[in-house]
Amino acid sequence: MTPIQETIINKKTSNTPIWLMRQAGRYLPEFREIRKDNNNFISLCLNENLSSEITLQPLKRFGLDAAIIFSDILMVPYGLNQEVKFKKNFGPELGSLNLETILKVDKKTFLKKMNPIYNSIKKVSTDDLTKNKDVIGFVGAPWTLLVYMINKRSPKKNLIKDFFKDKSLINETLIILEKFLQLHIEFQIKNGATVIQIFDSWAGLLGDNDIPNYIYKPTLNLVNYIKSLNVPVICFPRGIKNYKSFCEIVKPDVINIDYEVNPFSILKEIKIPIQGGLDPKVLLLDKENLKKETLKYLNIFKNHPYIFNLGHGIVPETNPNMVEYLIKTVKDY
Ligand code: CP3
Repeated sequence: MTPIQETIINKKTSNTPIWLMRQAGRYLPEFREIRKDNNNFISLCLNENLSSEITLQPLKRFGLDAAIIFSDILMVPYGLNQEVKFKKNFGPELGSLNLETILKVDKKTFLKKMNPIYNSIKKVSTDDLTKNKDVIGFVGAPWTLLVYMINKRSPKKNLIKDFFKDKSLINETLIILEKFLQLHIEFQIKNGATVIQIFDSWAGLLGDNDIPNYIYKPTLNLVNYIKSLNVPVICFPRGIKNYKSFCEIVKPDVINIDYEVNPFSILKEIKIPIQGGLDPKVLLLDKENLKKETLKYLNIFKNHPYIFNLGHGIVPETNPNMVEYLIKTVKDY
């Protein structure tokens, strides 16, 4: 069994495994080298040779316990024929959400568009570098994808004023998303993904009244679907605050925590395996502070099944030597 599966399934608490959100990305010079000749981010995600190579780059350098597929949560709206662009120094920009357009997409069309992603997963999962390691497939949670599809860009602190105005558009889109997220998960698993992570990056934007309908219900459906395929599922409802209720209702196999929650309270309240928590900005400090903060998480969770990770993705300014030092600190513990 892989180290991560030992933690999740056997609830092992020694030899804490580690992988990092955004481990393949702009902080690596070898990624920037490829990126500089590949202006179009979507085309890069759909280039199975390059996306598999980028996925494996951090595994060549570091002793990580998993590969996470180089792709993006917004590939699903793209597969549904909504326009998606990534603009330099701005982030994603989507075209208008048109129900008629996305309703026209059938499973065959979607799979054909997304096929290079599955081929890339196959390449990664059959590479020697992932032997006895996990290959993490992922999706955006329905709520976070809805936010991008309606808001058309990353929201700042709040949703646009009229976000909930067209209820039927929202409800229909959620139904379509459920169907295609299941399909996307099914094909990632068929091609070698051994764990699925659900990113709900904008979970923190909703008030208590809206959380059941937009977060618990659609995420629970996906979690149950992934469990039915016998693959562990990790949920990351970033900023949700009440992680305890989330875990009791949605029941993922693992919960990834953000860096704003208190890990001591999490340890008291949550019984399932835990992942993450360290503030990625700690990697921008010096080694002494990095070690101190890393040991803090390791000590808090030393008797609890714990997968080391961050409380959000690695930031581009990170020095790869600091990532190496972080991994060494975890491995030496
Ligand atoms: O290494 C990995 O973690 C795997 C690849 C991965 C990417 N995006 C690559 C990427 C994963 C798992 C994601 C998930 C993702 N994408 C999320 C959820 C996690 C989170 O960050 O909250 C979200 C919200 C997105 C949407 C997205 N994609 C945004 C907002 C941006 C722009 C901001 C940024 O960080 O650049 C992206 C672009 C993106 N996705 C890049 C990468 C490597 C940067 C592309 C580049 O300019 O080179």
